[in-house]
Amino acid sequence: MKEPKRYLVTSALPYANGPQHFGHLAGAYIPADIYVRYLRMMGEDVLFICGSDEHGAAITIQAKKEGITPQTIIDKYHPLNKECFRKIGISFDIYHRTSEKLHHETSSDYFKTLYDKGVFIEKESEQLFDEKFQQFLADRYIKGTCPKCANEDAYGDQCEKCGSDLSPTELINPVSTLSGETPILKTTKHWYLPMDKYEGVIREWIDKAQASEKWKKHVLGQCLSWLDQGLHARSMTRDLDWGVKVPLEGADGKVLYVWLDAPIGYISATKALIPDQWETYWKDDETKLVHFIGKDNIVFHCIIFPILLMAHGEYVLPVNVPANQFMNLEGNKMSTSRNYAVWLYEYLKEFPGQEDVLRYALTANMPENKDSDFSWKDFQARNNNELVGIFGNLVNRVIVLTHKYFGGTIPDIPTEAEQAVLEQAEEVYAALQAFPHELDAAIHRYEFRNALNEVINLARVGNKFLTDTEPWKLFKVDADKTAKVLAISLELIARLAVYCEPFLPFTSARLKKMLLLDETAVQEVLAGSFRVKAGYQVGAKELLFSKIDDAQIQPQIDRLATIQQVLQAAKEDAASTPVESTSFEPLKPEITYEDFSKLDIRTGTITTAVKMKKANKLLQLTVDLGFEERTVVSGIAEHYTPEDIIGQQVLLLANLAPRKLRGVESQGMILMASDKRLHFVAPVDVIDNGQVIS
Ligand code: MF3
Ligand code: ZN
Repeated sequence: MKEPKRYLVTSALPYANGPQHFGHLAGAYIPADIYVRYLRMMGEDVLFICGSDEHGAAITIQAKKEGITPQTIIDKYHPLNKECFRKIGISFDIYHRTSEKLHHETSSDYFKTLYDKGVFIEKESEQLFDEKFQQFLADRYIKGTCPKCANEDAYGDQCEKCGSDLSPTELINPVSTLSGETPILKTTKHWYLPMDKYEGVIREWIDKAQASEKWKKHVLGQCLSWLDQGLHARSMTRDLDWGVKVPLEGADGKVLYVWLDAPIGYISATKALIPDQWETYWKDDETKLVHFIGKDNIVFHCIIFPILLMAHGEYVLPVNVPANQFMNLEGNKMSTSRNYAVWLYEYLKEFPGQEDVLRYALTANMPENKDSDFSWKDFQARNNNELVGIFGNLVNRVIVLTHKYFGGTIPDIPTEAEQAVLEQAEEVYAALQAFPHELDAAIHRYEFRNALNEVINLARVGNKFLTDTEPWKLFKVDADKTAKVLAISLELIARLAVYCEPFLPFTSARLKKMLLLDETAVQEVLAGSFRVKAGYQVGAKELLFSKIDDAQIQPQIDRLATIQQVLQAAKEDAASTPVESTSFEPLKPEITYEDFSKLDIRTGTITTAVKMKKANKLLQLTVDLGFEERTVVSGIAEHYTPEDIIGQQVLLLANLAPRKLRGVESQGMILMASDKRLHFVAPVDVIDNGQVIS
């Protein structure tokens, strides 16, 4: 798309049935906030939309479990989440709720419009029914054995083990999660979205979207994997009493499917925010719509919601959906249900005034292209080494020296002194020149880790300049030159103050105050015309960051380790098979370097993954080697679902003679390590594909 006139940015509406943890923040909220704050700073017209998702089985089932009403649950968590987001500086323009009347009207009208256009297929069918609770069972209300992978804990809508999309009647031995009893079959009527009819247009749209902006590999891979497996009609209504009522005759006791109503929540929130102008944002094709989500929401935002938007016809489609992968915690999967997570509201309580530290650590570790890991040690190191040691240290030294030598005001600097510093400042000027462009490019590529790196690297350049020029020694021999050194440093810090705002908004505000930068000065910085001349004053020194010591993080580490131990013990109990003692395979006979160098091992990324028909253990993969793509058949289907591994970087033995497996030629072998299960081996950092391992 050419330069957009306006941006419409959304973050996934979190279910209002629990608090937010670090994984949520790093997935869909911090990246969106950085993007939006940056765009606003650059003077773009941008709306940032979010709110609570207050319908769906996740909420009603929890209510039943706790013996309270769904309303009680959402009334507890909506305000809590809203407040936590505000405190950590997520700058939504609105945080709406899908229980609002306006949302019920908007989603109901939307459904009615599609119904009137003849989009839906009306179908009576036999569905599972819990006689004891007098309720039809869909989605999470039903559990059973997955017909595709034999997982005994599959849900009525999805098997989390193999990633298959299921319908309740496909489950083997279905059991109601309400009563624990076997359901009966009963006839009911629903309205289906014939997604299969849209396969072609969705493919075309996704294809075309790449021309303006490449999507992340794992996002594209998941979409294509769904499309390759074929889309099916999906019911857009449910037999439930919690949700948006189906606005049709004879639809009593039926509500809209939560994945129909929730994304329409983006629209109703925009309406609530700007009742007179919302249509410009949603219906004018000069709007750039971007959805920030976690990877478990990809299909809904890249296939189902776009189909609903297309079927309506008046709405713009997203230009990009830069979904993030998952963030692990101290090496283990985060889990809300097992309480293995760090909750935002607890962090805010336990680390007051340290909001930016968390934003920094989460951004530096953001799971942009592959799963990442948060650890408290890393959090501490990022703070102590980077925020305190690099950023804070630079600011502190410059402000202190300016006060110490010049009473806080830059004096007149004679031309000879200016000249004398120029050579030493070359690196600084080059960095200041390049910085805004590098930052801009990274932000527009949704590479927020790199963008943050640009900021911290600029501070590194500032520190090096001080080390090279040593103003604390220089002052005794050449006060004029010292003044120039500080003036240049202040110019650099002013850039930092302004450009760190998207990442560290609280720090930015404090630093601007310290440098007495008003709005005019900020605009000058952005225009590249800001200069520190004689008479420029700095304010009083303020501490930006402080060291975090072991005593502060140890309780956090201990808490998580305890939860892990309990979980581990439970798992071992359940398995109740004697734990085998670890045995090591004997070493193989010695080889020469020549033997080794015959192996051509390359870095590559899995771009597509499909289960192979009639082969429980096999996945058919495409591995991108940078210079070419390989088809590889791999026996990992019992350990990984296709969704898990798309985007995973791997090592491929690329010169192994091809071999046919179940009729498919496998062109190489992915290197794996195994203990009790199989693990990928890959470079510690994501590096370019096609590189030789030697
Ligand atoms: N509530 C969903 C979740 O937490 C996300 C909904 S996003 C929306 O997974 F688009 F539907 F709003
Ligand atoms: Zn399965």
